[in-house]
Amino acid sequence: MISQNTIQQILGRIDIIDVVGSFVKLKKRGTNFLGLCPFHNEKTPSFTVSPAKEIYKCFGCGKSGNTISFVMEHEKHSYVDALKWLANRYNIEVEETFQSDEQRQQQQSADSLYIINSFAQEFFSRMLFNSEEGQDVGLSYLKERGFREEIITKFQLGYSPEQRDAFTKEALAKQYSPELLIKTGLVANRNDQLMDNYRGRIIFPVHNTSGKIVGFGARILKKNDKAPKYINTPENEIYIKSRILYGSYFARQAIDKADECLLVEGYTDVVSLHQAGIENVVASGGTSLTIDQLRLVKKYTNNLTIIYDGDAAGVKAALRGLDLALEEGLNVKLVLIPDNEDPDSYVNKLGAAAFIRFVQKNRQDFILFQLQVALKDAGDDSVRKAEVVNRMAETISKINKAEDFTKQQDYIKQCSQVLKIDEGGMHALVNKFIRDRIVTQERKLPFSEPGQQDEQVGSADTGNYDDATFNLLFKDELQEKEIARILLEHGTRNWDASKLIAEHIFEEMVDESLVDNQEVVKLVHTFKDALHTGYVPDKNYFIYHADPQLSALAVSLLNFPYEESDHWRRKFSQNTGYQKHLFTQSYEDFIKTVAPENENALMRFLKIDEDRTNEEVVSAISYLKLRKVKRMLLENQLDLEKPHTVAEFEMLHRTHEHLKHMEMELTRKTGTVILK
Ligand code: CTP
Ligand code: MN
Repeated sequence: MISQNTIQQILGRIDIIDVVGSFVKLKKRGTNFLGLCPFHNEKTPSFTVSPAKEIYKCFGCGKSGNTISFVMEHEKHSYVDALKWLANRYNIEVEETFQSDEQRQQQQSADSLYIINSFAQEFFSRMLFNSEEGQDVGLSYLKERGFREEIITKFQLGYSPEQRDAFTKEALAKQYSPELLIKTGLVANRNDQLMDNYRGRIIFPVHNTSGKIVGFGARILKKNDKAPKYINTPENEIYIKSRILYGSYFARQAIDKADECLLVEGYTDVVSLHQAGIENVVASGGTSLTIDQLRLVKKYTNNLTIIYDGDAAGVKAALRGLDLALEEGLNVKLVLIPDNEDPDSYVNKLGAAAFIRFVQKNRQDFILFQLQVALKDAGDDSVRKAEVVNRMAETISKINKAEDFTKQQDYIKQCSQVLKIDEGGMHALVNKFIRDRIVTQERKLPFSEPGQQDEQVGSADTGNYDDATFNLLFKDELQEKEIARILLEHGTRNWDASKLIAEHIFEEMVDESLVDNQEVVKLVHTFKDALHTGYVPDKNYFIYHADPQLSALAVSLLNFPYEESDHWRRKFSQNTGYQKHLFTQSYEDFIKTVAPENENALMRFLKIDEDRTNEEVVSAISYLKLRKVKRMLLENQLDLEKPHTVAEFEMLHRTHEHLKHMEMELTRKTGTVILK
């Protein structure tokens, strides 16, 4: 860990204009600076940096952050590495804090594994290029397959000699510990004899995203049915298969630029495509994708294109677990290449340009593809067809992020067409899956005893929400963030003579079940903790918080006033049709007519509101309370539909009346907030 002292020194020195300015050409515009966004391709600048707030935001692609997150994002550094990078830039000596013995040992062990791997890579490369056997067997094989020298060097490919202890001997002479050598998988212990694990194989070093070698894939050269085609590094401190995507180090910038990640199966596919100039490509190693791998992709892009050969096994492997990708909000496309080809052979056959064209022409939507495969499998069997309908509805229901709402609607439409079923029915089914999930997630709901919950989940026809209720229950992340924003922007100001706004909010929130969003909950906790220790956390406390989730949330909550970006104003006009010279309306009135549901957000964005902070606080809290009351009402209604004794029934009725009354009161108070 870097010491707090060092971090403070770094924070004291960083100048966002200096740091961002060294990568992006910035021009002064009012109090801000403007430039071309380094995170997406654009011709008109919409990348804005505010020296006063020490944050940046791109109004084109939405990326935003602080100086540290800029270095992390742009240079693909971890938080700690970004701090070190900044320390280095400002000549600040990095002081590391004390680690526990266990931590230190683990760190040391990991460091040693990296050192051994790097030594091994140099050894294998030397063998490939400089030994007779390597040249005759290894290099000639690679060249025959069409790999040119510069790509072999770039990917640091190597060759392991046939001799049983060629590497082991050199490594032991270098004093590397046998135990660690075995851990790397480079050396094996056979009958108390240390010997090489890879012999007569082509070596593919596997790099992590910062370019360090975490392990190797070793491909056999000779045809041998007994030996495995590839030997891979065993799991150890630094080689964690579920988190590795081969090629990610070489692909990261290209993925960023293209805003798309291509996924193939094999090592050779990655190297070949790179050689053809297609660099935004990584490999999964032929297994289905894990959640960690998907998150790795998502760090760079939301668009994942899977390129697999058409054989059934490969495709099935690719499809497995892809619902996870939907939950992560990734757009998944699929490209099948002809039988008996893989991306490596196919790009060699077609050439780069034709290959890219092929990918573009044959990109299919993953969900629709899945539907076709399932329908084909089901044939005329009506029971199995019904299963397909259910499965598709479940898959579609996984797209449940607020921002993907239209996407979900689109899929419902398209799938019902393909399945020849009623769109409304499909809609209801998808909603049922969403509801089921929420009900199971919210075991704490009032009036529902644990045993009854499953029963409710099973009954599809209860609780048909109207649109407004549906929105209120599921689509109101913005509203939760509103509380977080108020805390961040105004929390440390006075509510009245006796307390801070934050304190008032915490009193009103009493139980945190008002908020679902875990990031917001975390912010609330952190805020409370700070207050308890007598510290009044200001904006920067969160913007520069070591927890990247918190700092990202904080930055995303802070907006720029509109005057500071001409481009944004233009965009706003384009998107909404507002043209000052054509209308006598002010911005305020205009927003009220075209986008009443976004009024609050836009007004705030345009910074035309007076100081209505206390009003905002009341409104935001009332909204969350109202939501809770609506949820309780819903539960109560479900309960009312069941058989009860007269006394129970009366009680439920009274509860209903009481809740209805609260609902009315709260609706009044929410006044200024989104409500249909
Ligand atoms: N793989 C593996 N172990 C095996 C076979 C395959 O780990 N015994 C993984 C490797 O990551 C390999 C990928 O699955 O890259 C795809 O396998 P395959 O298509 O057989 O290999 P290629 O890399 O395409 O090798 P080549 O083109 O040389 O046949
Ligand atoms: Mn291949």
